[in-house]
Amino acid sequence: MDSKSSTLNVDGTSVEMSIKRGTIGPSVIDISKLYGQTGMFTYDPGFTSTASCESKITYIDGDEGVLLYRGYPIEQLAEHGDFLETCYLLLYGELPTAAQKADFDYRVTRHTMVHDQMNRFFQGFRRDAHPMAIMVACVGALSAFYHDSTDISDPHQRMVASMRMIAKMPTLAAMAYKYSIGQPFIYPKNDLDYTSNFLRMCFAVPAEEYRVNPVLSRALDRIFILHADHEQNASTSTVRLAGSSGANPFACIAAGVACLWGPAHGGANEAALKMLEEIGTPDRIPEFIGRAKDKNDPFRLMGFGHRVYKNYDPRARIMQHTTHEVLSELGIRDDPLLDVAMELEQIALKDEYFIEKKLYPNIDFYSGITLKAMGFPTSMFTVLFALARTVGWIAQWSEMIEDPSQRIGRPRQLYTGAPRRDYLTVAQRG
Ligand code: CMC
Repeated sequence: MDSKSSTLNVDGTSVEMSIKRGTIGPSVIDISKLYGQTGMFTYDPGFTSTASCESKITYIDGDEGVLLYRGYPIEQLAEHGDFLETCYLLLYGELPTAAQKADFDYRVTRHTMVHDQMNRFFQGFRRDAHPMAIMVACVGALSAFYHDSTDISDPHQRMVASMRMIAKMPTLAAMAYKYSIGQPFIYPKNDLDYTSNFLRMCFAVPAEEYRVNPVLSRALDRIFILHADHEQNASTSTVRLAGSSGANPFACIAAGVACLWGPAHGGANEAALKMLEEIGTPDRIPEFIGRAKDKNDPFRLMGFGHRVYKNYDPRARIMQHTTHEVLSELGIRDDPLLDVAMELEQIALKDEYFIEKKLYPNIDFYSGITLKAMGFPTSMFTVLFALARTVGWIAQWSEMIEDPSQRIGRPRQLYTGAPRRDYLTVAQRG
């Protein structure tokens, strides 16, 4: 919705720009005509003040610690909903009726197997390859297997590609894990729910019966809900940018997986757990807090701080509760890592440096402890994040493709390199 306008004075020329208002949250100044009228670009490294698109999917109020999917608070979805229902909500904008949910669950379930040739694809990797390296490759490789769903101009093909990715990510993720520990791949079992099926593909072996623990399955399902979407973060923006060129959806999601891998983004859960292990005991916390505050030390408290949340990450609260639930179900009464985490959180929340910079625990602070207790190695943490975020990437990608004003994403730059100069031969170069 456009309303009012704002006037910018650039070198004596006054430029009128409309202000667009959303349903909630900050308004934006539409600068799309700025270059045409002034010959100048705006400069915003890291996009701290730039809205890259209009979206109806996810809303975050970082100051208040609010996260809504299609208007629904994350706390309510995590408590009452399940992950596939959240997928439906993100993709279609409304919670499903019972019939719609049954149909959606069935459609996802039908696509859980991957092409058998994929097994051969895995054999090319070293056993000690990072599972995220395998995921980047295998998700991108899906475009080589499913040619009948890569035409992005066909809504049906877009829908089939979306279902395929939501359904096959758990299968690929479990295969990456099984490959790394030298165990045979476990095929999906479609009478299980989405998350129970994933746990089984990860932890069952052909030689024994495997019973899914419903408490762990519910906890992991909730973790998937918490990670399902998060507005225009780095990996989602990567997916949108890749998709803006018309690249096929499997390639776009592979780009998202690659971006997510970084320790400042999805890799933080792995880094946070490694940090807690390195700290080891609560008495060493002051030393690490001191390092985090030292300008000359690159060390940061992993699992702390967020570009958008300047308050407690609402997902971190639910995550903390889930951690206690999982540890209690597994009978883990004294987990030294949890002790370190809880003490570290308390100390950091009272520390002037963290208060002043509004650095609160984020979702990754507690997720590592929970996933480790469930039996996942640290290298799998970001893979689980990618599995859950796939639906968010797809919903954002679809929204962009369906937007009639969509154009290729093409930021500009402030050039500070050498001005034009003439080529000198090697002999002339002194
Ligand atoms: N420990 C110590 N100092 C920190 C931390 C931290 N974790 N995070 C930010 N700061 C300081 C930073 O040094 C800077 O100080 P100064 O203003 O004196 O230079 C100030 O706080 C602002 O930091 P920034 O890097 O400019 O903020 P950003 O918005 O660019 O970065 C962040 C956000 C998440 C990358 C950063 O807080 C960070 O590196 N955190 C640790 C990694 C982490 O936990 N990431 C997971 C994010 S949540 C999951 C996800 O969405 O992927």
